[in-house]
Amino acid sequence: MSRITRRPSFLTVPAFAKINLGIEVLGSRQDGYHELRTLFQTISLHDDIELRRRRAPGVVLRCEHPLIPRDETNLAVRAARDLMRHAGLPGGVEIRLTKRIPVAGGLGGGSSDAAAVLMALDRLFELDLGPARLHAFARRLGADVPFFLLGGTALGLGRGDEVYPLEKQLRAEVVVIDMGRPVSTAAVFRRLGAQLTLKENGYTIFRFVSSDWGDRASFRILTNELERSALEEAPDLADTVRRVRRILVGEGALFAGMSGSGSSCFGLFIERAAARRAVKATRAAGFAAHRGRTVTLGGFRRTWSLRFGR
Ligand code: C5P
Repeated sequence: MSRITRRPSFLTVPAFAKINLGIEVLGSRQDGYHELRTLFQTISLHDDIELRRRRAPGVVLRCEHPLIPRDETNLAVRAARDLMRHAGLPGGVEIRLTKRIPVAGGLGGGSSDAAAVLMALDRLFELDLGPARLHAFARRLGADVPFFLLGGTALGLGRGDEVYPLEKQLRAEVVVIDMGRPVSTAAVFRRLGAQLTLKENGYTIFRFVSSDWGDRASFRILTNELERSALEEAPDLADTVRRVRRILVGEGALFAGMSGSGSSCFGLFIERAAARRAVKATRAAGFAAHRGRTVTLGGFRRTWSLRFGR
């Protein structure tokens, strides 16, 4: 008996944001990138992506956000082109992108959109590549993209593109503050140059991962070694970042930091009520705040398997 396979003509998928709980910069690399150690964490804040097959060839991106390019400078478009060309897929695809993740805000929005497009195309065209074989496409698109194939709490090594899930997953309420100020990741990394040779490796991420992560003291070990350069790149933010941190910690955050190369800040909370209060307090101070949760590795996998039938 021949197998009947359902070929849906469209899929809607979430593209989750990430925060970096910590970032250590270990040095510059021959390829112009920097050798990193980072602790990635998926959070529930997400963009929505709808993929629809088209008979006509080509990749069409529709997005109403004014800062989002719709040509091949958009990683999601490049992701679709690369994979479709490689797999020799017939016809084309339309991508409808609804942005919620702040743009150029250190939350990996563009990278997450690209990874979600890869995974969704894998489903839509039943290519059955899975994260392991999509990794090569993901890392060509950008250093952060491979993490978004995996999700949860994970260690990132190399350029950040070698990703290892942690056995222990962080469960916490998350408040994200959109500072409304895009910061260029490349510019932040360029500013690092001079500082690198002086620094000793603090093994902060190793020490954190080996601790019980249960209290403020264990989170205090973590550092974001891009923050100084980010604030040099965007000196207008220094005061506001300090204020946001003070509010989040004042409302009981277990940890408050800047994500990636900035400028978004976040606070982690055990209690939902405290997270709610922090949202109120930051909004009252004039900031745009979003409340959500961490998404664990299991939660990420469930989202993909439940929604897409695997
Ligand atoms: O890989 P992606 O294009 O997302 O990275 C943006 C920029 O950030 C790169 O052009 C590079 O200058 C810098 N970068 C780096 N080291 C990393 C990751 C990114 O220097 N590990």
